[in-house]
Amino acid sequence: MQQKTLAIIKPDGVKRGLVGEILTRIEKEGFRIVAMKMVRLSRAQAAAFYAVHKEKDFFEGLVEFMSSGPVVAAVLEAQDAITRYRALMGATDPEMAEAGTIRKALATDGRKNVVHGSDSPETAAKEIGFFFNAFELTI
Ligand code: RTP
Ligand code: MG
Repeated sequence: MQQKTLAIIKPDGVKRGLVGEILTRIEKEGFRIVAMKMVRLSRAQAAAFYAVHKEKDFFEGLVEFMSSGPVVAAVLEAQDAITRYRALMGATDPEMAEAGTIRKALATDGRKNVVHGSDSPETAAKEIGFFFNAFELTI
């Protein structure tokens, strides 16, 4: 089943000059980039995007981090894109991530982990709509 997922290159990935490398890994894995933009999230926007974590002890640090600089948001399309992109990202904590994953190769810790990916069809639809309007999704 062709599916879309929302990918983000987080502020650490952009600051460290990893945009090209991450997009190359994504494309080599067979994902089609169907929408993409660079934006800087306000604290309120970062908090809204990660609202599911608002009760967690790491929420404040996560909001601070995600609004600390520009991010690249992209919509990826592939067969089973959601699960397959989560697999390509690797575990949240890079020390736990499998060899060959983006986080294992590039992330520095469990917060600064360079990439985000939607975790279900419902979140993917919501997160794609957070960053892109219908006009930007016509490709
Ligand atoms: P993401 O939502 O960004 O794709 O990451 P994920 O599903 O692998 O992990 P999740 O549990 O949803 O956590 C969201 C992000 O919060 C930061 N975090 N910091 N203990 C900590 O300091 C901590 N734990 C999580 C990470 O940036 C994580 O990706
Ligand atoms: Mg998550």
